[in-house]
Amino acid sequence: MEQNKSGESYILEVKNLSVSYGHVNALKGVDIKVKAGEIVVLIGANGAGKTSLLETILGVNEIKNGSIHFQGREISGDSADKIVRAGIFLVPEGRGVFSSMTVTDNLLLGAHHNLKGAKSKMDYVFSSFPILKDRKNQVAGTLSGGERQMLAIARALMSSPKMILVDEPSIGLAPKIVNDIFDILKNLNSEGYSILLSEQNVYKALKCAHRGYVMETGNIVLGAASEDLLNNPEIRKAYLGA
Ligand SMILES: Nc1ncnc2c1ncn2[C@@H]1O[C@H](COP(=O)(O)OP(=O)(O)O)[C@@H](O)[C@H]1O
Ligand SMILES: [Mg+2]
Repeated sequence: MEQNKSGESYILEVKNLSVSYGHVNALKGVDIKVKAGEIVVLIGANGAGKTSLLETILGVNEIKNGSIHFQGREISGDSADKIVRAGIFLVPEGRGVFSSMTVTDNLLLGAHHNLKGAKSKMDYVFSSFPILKDRKNQVAGTLSGGERQMLAIARALMSSPKMILVDEPSIGLAPKIVNDIFDILKNLNSEGYSILLSEQNVYKALKCAHRGYVMETGNIVLGAASEDLLNNPEIRKAYLGA
């Protein structure tokens, strides 16, 4: 794993990353880093490029320029399947849970590349999320929004990731449930998972994360410790309504 001058190791390094959809330049030379054990949040309005960045890390989008390193190894150009095997899993925007499948079958999808280890992973996930255990034979469409988000996160854990990317986990959830979801992310982080999430719920996300990056129209315009972003007058004005 690459180390910087102060000896810190980065689990993820994105350098000068550019991605286009036809003539739409979604990412225009993005640089971000996540240290092992960190929670980092991408903040930005709709269309800023958050989803594009997360999906590109997972190997879904074609890279026009730049590189992505995970644990010191270049993963740019690898297939999504290979990147999942390397230890990254994406919890997509809108959760990506299959409504007509049971909780158990949704979880098994997360372990599709390692079904042998699935039973013990399932036990671990059910002990972390007892509510999912209670509902394991129900189809996911009968779950509440918060439970579906839990299921999406639990499915990520089934792949034995080292790093979890979470795209707008709070969207469409009641404030109390949003707090529960951020608590879950903090607990997972304390168990050792590195987390990169995107959020428009800026205040709660910065309270949860160690550091944040502000994205605007495909660029990173600011990166700092969460506390500094929370105290930054421009951020307060633009994203916190203060
Ligand atoms: N599949 C796509 N085809 C064309 N343009 C897209 C596609 N996905 C996203 N975009 C555009 O790329 C830009 C970044 O979008 P996105 O990454 O979804 O931002 P965010 O997640 O921050 O809302 C926007 O201008 C959006 O309209
Ligand atoms: Mg998005």
